[in-house]
Amino acid sequence: MKKNRKTFYITTPLYYVNGKPHIGSAYTTIVADILARYKRKAGYDVFYLTGTDEHGLKIYETAKKKGIENIKDFVDEVASEFKDVWDKLDIKYDYFIRTTDEKHVKAVKKFWNELYKKGDIYKGKYKGWYCISCETYFTEKELVGDNKCPDCGKDVEWVEEENYFFKLSRYQDDLIELYEKNSDFVLPEFRKNEMLYRLKNDKLEDLSISRKKETLPWGISLPFDEDHVLYVWVDALLNYITSLGYGEDSELFEKYWPADVHFIGKEINWFHSVIWPAMLIAAGIEPPKSVFAHGWLTVNGGKISKSKGNTVDPIAISDKYSLDIMKYYLLRDIKFGRDGDFSYEKLENRVNSDLANDLGNLLNRTLQMIIQYCDGEIPSSGNNLNKYDNDLISMANNLYSKVDEHVNNYNFTDALSTIWTFIRRTNKYIDQTEPWILGRENKEKRLGTVLYNLSEALRIIAIIISPFMANTSEKILTQLGLNGKKELEKGFDALEWGLINSKTKVNKKEIIFPRIEKDEKKGKNMDKNKKATSDKKNKKTDDNLVDIKEFGKIDLTAAKILDVEDIEKADKLYKIKVDIGYEKRQIVAGIKKYYSKEELIGKNIVIVSNLKPAKLMGVKSEGMLLAAKSENNLTLVTYTDKDSKFLGSKIQ
Ligand code: MSP
Repeated sequence: MKKNRKTFYITTPLYYVNGKPHIGSAYTTIVADILARYKRKAGYDVFYLTGTDEHGLKIYETAKKKGIENIKDFVDEVASEFKDVWDKLDIKYDYFIRTTDEKHVKAVKKFWNELYKKGDIYKGKYKGWYCISCETYFTEKELVGDNKCPDCGKDVEWVEEENYFFKLSRYQDDLIELYEKNSDFVLPEFRKNEMLYRLKNDKLEDLSISRKKETLPWGISLPFDEDHVLYVWVDALLNYITSLGYGEDSELFEKYWPADVHFIGKEINWFHSVIWPAMLIAAGIEPPKSVFAHGWLTVNGGKISKSKGNTVDPIAISDKYSLDIMKYYLLRDIKFGRDGDFSYEKLENRVNSDLANDLGNLLNRTLQMIIQYCDGEIPSSGNNLNKYDNDLISMANNLYSKVDEHVNNYNFTDALSTIWTFIRRTNKYIDQTEPWILGRENKEKRLGTVLYNLSEALRIIAIIISPFMANTSEKILTQLGLNGKKELEKGFDALEWGLINSKTKVNKKEIIFPRIEKDEKKGKNMDKNKKATSDKKNKKTDDNLVDIKEFGKIDLTAAKILDVEDIEKADKLYKIKVDIGYEKRQIVAGIKKYYSKEELIGKNIVIVSNLKPAKLMGVKSEGMLLAAKSENNLTLVTYTDKDSKFLGSKIQ
């Protein structure tokens, strides 16, 4: 197959079929879907792959616990639930792979047989720990607490078995070279640094790639030893090439491989950024262009888990609010790459401010004025443009390149915020041009220009948001009097200013985003509580004021972070080494949830330097970092200081 257009191959992880999709699994699929839609509109020939991971101990045991004898029946059922959910969420994937597909099984066997023939596989004895829930091997020193998995906290099991091993250790140097030659191989950068640090500092161990059939009968048999099945990960990872027909139909493979990006969650980064490229290098296949490891969604700050009963059903959210609202919230509020907390309150705030107030009002006001002053027909523009018009048009003309840059950096939050800046600017244009006065004073020509520009701005907004919110986009276009469905089929070329025809009859319908009235009772109580605290905060009685002498006792000092380490058994704390100009200090701080180590090193921060030393989790702490903290976020107070001129200075 010849490449006529630029191609874009994007994948999600394959989801284990031991349970239904929840908001966490839907997250990657939704973001990948939005990127795939965006790239299609940008003219790419896109291949968007998702699917299900159906082998392994976890699924085997889940089926057994449910009393299901025929595992295939069980995985068939859950896989079809996944498909249903993706259909309901309007996920437009190009291919859905299941690792029990015959085509996949055949290609996986072929792949491992080739590595076996090449001498990359040997038989050995595996001794170590295994977490069934994460399907991951661990060494003794990686475990936490009382033999618990460091990733999920569940019990691990001891495995001592004759296994086949893949000579992963052979590829350590190749992997380092791959990272060094491709600075974007793993994204975000701090995730790459985590991987590269391990690659450079720890010796890679060979990887056990099989389990004896007597312990695990559910999996793909090794092509060179029928008594073993493949380790679920080295079967599943291959989906990214077996879906393209690796081993048989090489046309798709040639067209789309290497993948442009694998979207994955942060906890499976090692598999994708180390084991997977090593497997490909061993087989003489080019590695993917990049792997993007996103953060985790939590609910009320806690891990989403069935046992905690805090799973959030994406279908229920989309039914309650709308699919577009859910997508907008997930991409706008949670920075892709970072952890984020799912909150109904924040979602509703976004609806009221960004969707109802900014976008909904803009559409409503514009259509209302076109109906009132122009009999519902979009007027013609006229040539006499003033500075407000020119400013609006030039912003519209620059919109795509700005959004595109953010999207290409997987920064969907900033892409949406750029679009919303334009929406707000368009609302401001109404206030600046005061069309109601033009209407009253019969200044038809000028009024025509203003209303034409508003209609055109709205059409452009509808097109640029369409990969993110297709239904909203269609509604806006239809209300503008266009054929929404047809307009949506067009690419981003349609972003050119001036394409809407005057005389188009608008079609004002329902309000696209009604405001959400907050639960009255809850609202009142919340307000009361808030008021009480804010009254307390604002009451400046003598006993909560500090006089300058007292304040002067506190030394706030400019410092630089030199090094950051974990503290054993303390999952919220870091041990941080700082330089305060005249000496080095060690501070224990509870900021692990908010920053990776790499992000912290080199930051210029402010510390309280004359705090009495204390011990936290048995570790000495000689100071305190200053940070701003909201309900779910925290940001360190930092300052700019290129040449460390301020290091050790007192902050006043
Ligand atoms: N089957 C493996 C992946 C194999 S890929 C060749 C797997 N499956 S999983 O079902 O456990 O997880 C799939 C993806 O869902 C992971 O990327 C994981 O990060 C993501 N999520 C599961 N829960 C999540 C959240 N709470 N938040 C965000 N994503 C999370 O691992």
